[in-house]
Amino acid sequence: MSTGVSTTQATETTPAPGAPRTILGCMGWGGGWGTGPLDEAAWRAAEDAAREALEAALGAGITVLDTADIYAHGRSEETLGRLLAADPGLRERIRIQTKCGILLGGSPLYDRAHGAGSTRYDSSAAHVRSAVAGSLRRLGTDHVDTLVIHRPDVLTDPAETVGAFLALQSAGAVGSLGVSNMGLAWVRRFDDALREATGGAQGLACVQLELGLHARTLIESVVLANHPGAPASADTEGIAEFCAERGIAIQAWGALGQGRYTRPHPEPADAAAAAEVGRVAGELGVAPEAVVLAWLLRLPWGVRPVVGSTRPGRIAASAGADGVAERMDAGQWYRIWTAARGESLP
Ligand SMILES: NC(=O)c1ccc[n+]([C@@H]2O[C@H](COP(=O)([O-])OP(=O)(O)OC[C@H]3O[C@@H](n4cnc5c(N)ncnc54)[C@H](OP(=O)(O)O)[C@@H]3O)[C@@H](O)[C@H]2O)c1
Repeated sequence: MSTGVSTTQATETTPAPGAPRTILGCMGWGGGWGTGPLDEAAWRAAEDAAREALEAALGAGITVLDTADIYAHGRSEETLGRLLAADPGLRERIRIQTKCGILLGGSPLYDRAHGAGSTRYDSSAAHVRSAVAGSLRRLGTDHVDTLVIHRPDVLTDPAETVGAFLALQSAGAVGSLGVSNMGLAWVRRFDDALREATGGAQGLACVQLELGLHARTLIESVVLANHPGAPASADTEGIAEFCAERGIAIQAWGALGQGRYTRPHPEPADAAAAAEVGRVAGELGVAPEAVVLAWLLRLPWGVRPVVGSTRPGRIAASAGADGVAERMDAGQWYRIWTAARGESLP
């Protein structure tokens, strides 16, 4: 087994120097999660909303888009495909990251092929091949820059998935490989399998996890070590250091906490953290969204937030988070964290 470890692994989605680390999440594209077909007016509305979001992102320097086969049952990818078809120069200006591996129960996307039923995972070579073909068809492009395995399929050896990825890569259909929602053991298995199959030339490009002010397990498993307050389920423990060592980017989904700290009337459980976020936003003279993201970017692991907003203002504010992180001092960072924890540190 390869033990090759790279510290500076370039990937297709690595941000250019000075570009925002933020990635535009497209889960909200495609007219929602209804399973029925959209009529023409609904398609137009979906396209207009996506175009506005994309223009805001590109205007702010965000060029990486994150989607998945299952988002809006394929309509997120299809919406992006419609934008690409309408603007021939667009494909060269963006990097597309999509995912596969979830068969959503009740979804029209895969039910016909796999039999209706409950949600299951499938990272077999056959499914990865057909899922990527479906994504390329909906996107109307001949390649995606990064393919992410959405969740771990315990019935499939990662080496099989990696083999399918490498065949697709040889055919020019995909650039790099990432994984999502996996604990350290599975991240390691995927990265080892890819390194072994390529003689150490390639490793995983990214690991995508729910991570942010509201989802702090990865952070608190490090900082609260040797304390009863450490997270009970620290399956992500060690991932940050592992990724840093192997040059794998950590992408944070849910980085805005779905707006819980920035909406005008937060839930009572989030009110103290929202107030602290607002205070720091006032001190730094920036939007609260930028503060929530800057809190994450201030961590030493080079985290890339995946921001799922469709609102141009929030997207533009998100792109400014890198600069805010540079100005956020440790006192502000700890104040926000303590407010989100709801108790002081040991
Ligand atoms: N790998 C995975 O399993 C996985 C899972 C989930 C998501 N993702 C990816 O990560 C991206 C982001 O995830 P996410 O959407 O869960 O997280 P998010 O970026 O934290 O939240 C975005 C959502 O919160 C809403 N929001 C943000 N600020 C708000 C405010 N001040 N007031 C009201 N609503 C507000 C947005 O609505 P507006 O559109 O109105 O701003 C949007 O619906 C997704 O698009 C997807 O690409 C990956």
